[in-house]
Amino acid sequence: MASSSSRKAWHCLLTLFLLSSGAYGQLSPSFYARSCPTLQLIVRATMIKAVLVERRMGASLLRLHFHDCFVQGCDGSILLDDVGSFVGEKTAPGNNNSVRGYEVIDQIKRNVELLCPGIVSCADIAALAARDGTVLLGGPTWAVPLGRRDSTTASMAEATTDLPPPSFDLTMLIQAFEKKQLCPRDLTALSGAHTIGFSQCANFRDHIYNGTNVDPAFAALRKRTCPAQPPNGDMNLAPFDVQTQLVFDNAYYSNLVAKRGLLNSDQVLFNGGSQDALVRQYVANPALFASDFVTAMIKMGNIKPLTGTAGQIRRNCRVVNS
Ligand code: HEM
Ligand SMILES: *[C@@H]1O[C@H](CO)[C@@H](O)[C@H](O)[C@H]1NC(C)=O
Ligand SMILES: *[C@@H]1O[C@H](CO)[C@@H](O)[C@H](O)[C@H]1NC(C)=O
Repeated sequence: MASSSSRKAWHCLLTLFLLSSGAYGQLSPSFYARSCPTLQLIVRATMIKAVLVERRMGASLLRLHFHDCFVQGCDGSILLDDVGSFVGEKTAPGNNNSVRGYEVIDQIKRNVELLCPGIVSCADIAALAARDGTVLLGGPTWAVPLGRRDSTTASMAEATTDLPPPSFDLTMLIQAFEKKQLCPRDLTALSGAHTIGFSQCANFRDHIYNGTNVDPAFAALRKRTCPAQPPNGDMNLAPFDVQTQLVFDNAYYSNLVAKRGLLNSDQVLFNGGSQDALVRQYVANPALFASDFVTAMIKMGNIKPLTGTAGQIRRNCRVVNS
């Protein structure tokens, strides 16, 4: 037991060390410094506009990058449309009628193509948009390692198996993240993204009605707009964080301690198990959460990128170049 948990802690530190030494992945924040010096300004300006139109879009783009990275790595595969016989990832269970922000990626890509045609990948645009969405909602910032290339394929099958559903228990979540070389600490830090944005009733109904670790007043509040019988109200939205739903802070963790986690997969992080102590640390120390979140975002952004001459730079993020 002790040796297994210290081995896991070591695994988390080792990855961090490799990451900071630059030996982990071939991505670099200065990848486009010469080929597209205005890239980060273009992405930021387009994101500011999108978040002014709808603040939630910051959250939606953070999630889009996560769902890109967990399927075939961070390669823009989630952005490919279904056309003809080609089946992409957009209709996979975790994505269908749920992942949003594709038009914002298109808008950024169009703006980037005007100044730097054929240079910047859609996968890198998604990583920058996720960072900017986080920052614009009040979260921490970081230098995004860049140089990913775009896939020519997508995988409905991998999206179906590898995107964790909200019904997962802690062991299953840890396994799903281990499969992507992310340790339990990364899981708990990244789940803090649920300090912003919304979930549909269909995703939290079972937890709110049947969960054993739910604050009764919180359950009553959520049941008001999420009827017990599906499909009634399936698509009704509730915020993850009641108080500060569009502010990226550490309130997610105090909600967990108060048994106000919205999804089953949220509350299992504070349920008498291995992540309880870390959740309490993130409540007490927002700077620790910010720093662990950034570390984990960079690790997640390093999942199996296509680099060098692999893949391509798509001209249109929705279709493979012909
Ligand atoms: C630990 C496993 C995770 C599960 C099971 C999970 C599940 C979900 C579900 C079910 C929703 C609501 C979707 C809907 O109802 O349409 C959601 C929303 C969201 N997720 Fe996660 N998630 C996980 C991890 C993450 C990670 C790692 C991130 C980013 C780092 C993230 C960021 C978000 C954001 C920002 C939203 C709100 C999106 C919006 O309002 O448009 N999630 N997640
Ligand atoms: C995706 O959602 C649409 C609209 O609800 C539905 O008609 C379609 O069957 C879903 N696709 C898959 C593959 O589940
Ligand atoms: C609660 O759990 C039972 C037994 O698994 C299930 O039949 C029922 O549909 C659940 N209720 C809700 C509202 O999810």
